[in-house]
Amino acid sequence: MKTVICKTYEEISKAAAEEIASIIKEKPKATLGLATGSTPVGMYRELINKYENGELDFSEVTTFNLDEYYPISKDNDQSYDYFMRKNLFDHINISQGKTNIPNGSASDPIAECEKYEKKIEENGAVDIQVLGIGQNGHIGFNEPGDYLHTVTHITDLTESTINANARFFESESDVPKKALTMGIGTILKAKKILLLANGRSKHEAISALLDDKITTAIPATLLKTHPNVILICDEEAYYG
Ligand code: GLP
Repeated sequence: MKTVICKTYEEISKAAAEEIASIIKEKPKATLGLATGSTPVGMYRELINKYENGELDFSEVTTFNLDEYYPISKDNDQSYDYFMRKNLFDHINISQGKTNIPNGSASDPIAECEKYEKKIEENGAVDIQVLGIGQNGHIGFNEPGDYLHTVTHITDLTESTINANARFFESESDVPKKALTMGIGTILKAKKILLLANGRSKHEAISALLDDKITTAIPATLLKTHPNVILICDEEAYYG
């Protein structure tokens, strides 16, 4: 795993945007795997700047997001669909038909997951998958457990994740208890993985990523099996 340790959040955001930009410049029809959460917001801002400066063209880019709460409507301002529009899609020239997010209001969530996984497979490999990391080491919404799922699936959120994400909702009871998420296998199929972590609250999860053990109790440790992972983090996430 290649590691880049940054002094500030701004530095993380710029370094991450550079990684994405170089892929799009080399391959205008690139497929990006995208993440939500507070960590990638600065990276999206940098990508918007690059688009506005004429440095990047998103017209042929395809995106697949990692996950979505379930159930949730697209209009809910806490849905990841809303998040992506507000933080990126509404500000760049991406074609709406090329953006993909699991449908949090699908009447049959299992069928929705199967459809999503199939669409990713048919599209061909994701060129770069952006990941944040949960305090408990989750990636996407692959929560710690006795086993992990390989493909896109519906999952229960852990108390720790509901707690951590409650800050975005009016109250903790408003946080959906389930989510649709790419599986660990879906994530590991990406050609390159860009993991972003900022702040001391991520230190424990990042430390587990840096030793030589793999455990389903810390899902991010499965990334050690991937040959092309870049970790971009700040000093607090890295050193504690
Ligand atoms: C959510 C998302 C993850 C994200 C995590 C961390 O649970 N499903 O994809 O990595 O939050 O979020 P933050 O970056 O806000 O700490």
